[in-house]
Amino acid sequence: MLSYRHGYHAGNYADVLKHSMLLQVLKLMQKKDKPYAYIDTHAGAGAYSLNDEFAQKTGEYLDGVAKLWEASNLPAALADYVEAVKVFNAEYDQLTVYPGSPSFVDAELREKDRMLLHELHSTDHDLLAEYFVKDRQVKVLKGDGLQGLIAAVPPPERRGVILIDPSYEIKSDYVDVAETIIKAHKRFSTGVYMLWYPVVQREQTESMLNLLKNSGIKNQLRVEQAIKPDSNEFGMTAAGLWIINPPWQLDVTAKETLNYLERRLGHSGGKTIVKVEVPE
Ligand SMILES: C[S@@+](CC[C@H](N)C(=O)[O-])C[C@H]1O[C@@H](n2cnc3c(N)ncnc32)[C@H](O)[C@@H]1O
Repeated sequence: MLSYRHGYHAGNYADVLKHSMLLQVLKLMQKKDKPYAYIDTHAGAGAYSLNDEFAQKTGEYLDGVAKLWEASNLPAALADYVEAVKVFNAEYDQLTVYPGSPSFVDAELREKDRMLLHELHSTDHDLLAEYFVKDRQVKVLKGDGLQGLIAAVPPPERRGVILIDPSYEIKSDYVDVAETIIKAHKRFSTGVYMLWYPVVQREQTESMLNLLKNSGIKNQLRVEQAIKPDSNEFGMTAAGLWIINPPWQLDVTAKETLNYLERRLGHSGGKTIVKVEVPE
């Protein structure tokens, strides 16, 4: 039984990093004319109200997207990100709804590109399927996204962006995710894989990332933002992306973005700690 609902977390600091980097990856992919497939293994509901009981209960978006909403002089990746959220809110006069990863991608997709979405939770799957019901470029599948990924690669286009954004509800998720990515990479070694990860227990996260780091896969990039020091207490202290085959110059963009977020998204006067690493 799945209990995770992304509505509690939509637009938080982790979403800011994830979605701003996702947008940049798509923009860099689109510098080439050839079509690509976007595969989302854990797609969520597609859109989230920031006025509903989920968002209001945690207020996490207040320390994320809301802090950027009125900001000026944003670095380019965050300016693109805020612009995308503003377009999504065009019918409202303030920040009211937050797009999920499929909606950010939907706004970027060219006619020749394609989107394949997986979601296991019945409610979120049905919302997502309803949202894209008339869109022939988009296929929404109800099922396990890790199995779905293996079935979907290599895509016929031979170009692809894959977002792996699990809820990590089951301890074994950490190992399953890394093993699936390694398996998918064997079938489709040129795809851009973006794995989102939380830091709750640092060791658990590092052992998952070490599986990738030591897999022999070349060309990996780590981008992470911590809002608190590591801790053994409950709760997420940091979040990041582990990217395989990052498009050229994404590391530069990530540094610029994180440098800004470090100053802007500090919590309760605390400083955030950021890192961009190219693992050996
Ligand atoms: C972090 S949320 C996704 C957020 C979304 N990617 C975004 O950025 O807007 C994780 C989602 O994965 C779903 N989920 C959990 N286990 C899954 C599985 N094995 N296969 C597919 N989806 C799953 C959850 O129901 C939840 O909606």
